[in-house]
Amino acid sequence: MSGNTYFNHAYAGIEAISIFVPNHYFPIEDLARVRGVDEEKFTIGLGCKKMSVLSPFEDPVTMAATAMKDLIRKSGISKDQIGCLVVGSESGVDESKPIAVYLHEMLGLEDNCRCFDIKNACYAGTAALRSAMSWAMTPASKGRKAVVITTDVAYYDLGSPGEPTQGAGACAMLIGTDPGVLSLDTANEAVHTNEVMDFWRPAYRNSAIVNGHYSLECYLEGLRKTWSLYRDMTSYRMKDYDYLLFHTPFPKMAWKAHNLIYKLEGGFKALGMTEEESFNTKVLPTLKAAQEMGNIYTSSIFAAITSLVEFHDMKPGMLLGVFSYGSGSSSEFISGTTGKAVKSWANRTGLSHYLSRRRKISYDDYVLYRAAYEQRMKDGYFVNHEPSDENPFVYLGIKNHKRLYSYTAQDSEDVKTIGLTKPLQG
Ligand code: CAA
Repeated sequence: MSGNTYFNHAYAGIEAISIFVPNHYFPIEDLARVRGVDEEKFTIGLGCKKMSVLSPFEDPVTMAATAMKDLIRKSGISKDQIGCLVVGSESGVDESKPIAVYLHEMLGLEDNCRCFDIKNACYAGTAALRSAMSWAMTPASKGRKAVVITTDVAYYDLGSPGEPTQGAGACAMLIGTDPGVLSLDTANEAVHTNEVMDFWRPAYRNSAIVNGHYSLECYLEGLRKTWSLYRDMTSYRMKDYDYLLFHTPFPKMAWKAHNLIYKLEGGFKALGMTEEESFNTKVLPTLKAAQEMGNIYTSSIFAAITSLVEFHDMKPGMLLGVFSYGSGSSSEFISGTTGKAVKSWANRTGLSHYLSRRRKISYDDYVLYRAAYEQRMKDGYFVNHEPSDENPFVYLGIKNHKRLYSYTAQDSEDVKTIGLTKPLQG
């Protein structure tokens, strides 16, 4: 099936996509050993392999800035063509100032660019995408593009059940009305909202609190409701989808999600495939980033898209079903068709590049980097680290309650610092 055969209404979606993976990872079997847990509980029971860990000079802003820098370079978009920047994140660095505004300065965007953050647990990325698509389709965009950034650190207490599912990373997407990567259905909306205490993070905490087993039930309820709603609206059935992409807090969750849909759709009798064949064909190829990086909250479904696009033989006109879940809770099922440029993003999203350059760390380093992460949330903790080709954006720390970053300017070789009070141009 080619182009937009599935959707004959106005459409918008992803024109370009890029992912950032932090410099370090900690292997899940090492964590199991230290915690005295059977390794297979983490590797088979949860399906985890590695977790991304931030360096002391990285944070959600530096990850986002690097992903966005890559996106601008690879897509060839000129900065005056970016009219809107929306960041979705669970890991905001300030209760008031948006990450988007830091990025606006670091990437040297035009003044006339709408910039804001959305917070809604892991659903914030999808909310940002919906918002950016709506903006791109209004006359006010004047043909300019939006950028959506998702950036997060999934962080739980040491030794807690959530610890093996931690991760970190960022995605950047160019959003417009000529979606060469993925055209999204703008005519149907299958959402589900339900107030639940399954996972939350009070403003005074760095680590999330989670009611683990209950959270799985909340997720599956959101999936059941939105799947049924979308199916009834569009008549698309499981067999119509080339791939199903699920929010993936840990890879086994995608297996549980697939299991639910497989049963709802009538199992082997109706689908002519065993559950394993169906999972291996429609879901497994979407899980590479989740296995390698851990939970990346708002980036999860976009990392699933990069996993497909980066490593698999994608063709225009493939139908993807995408389920997004944010604790608290908000769920959405949306579908999209791959566009004419999808193949050109194979090996170009950054996923294999960043995975190949990162380094394994020991348990001692893992604990040290966590301690640094906690410290960096406090005033007065300051590191000296120069930006480089490998790490173009550096988080220095907080001084006088101002968050400081160092980076190489986009239009010169000058190293700049952001976060100080700057003179206005008038
Ligand atoms: N070998 C193989 N498998 C084993 C095993 C062994 N030796 N020991 C246990 N297992 C299996 C268990 O049978 C279980 O599998 P099933 O669920 O298929 O039965 C699996 O390993 C996990 O075991 P437990 O349920 O006993 O694990 P736990 O209670 O220690 O923690 C968890 C599991 C609740 C998911 C925990 O990791 C957690 O709290 N995670 C964070 C919350 C989360 O990710 N929730 C997901 C939905 S909410 C959401 O999606 C938003 C978000 O991003 C956070």
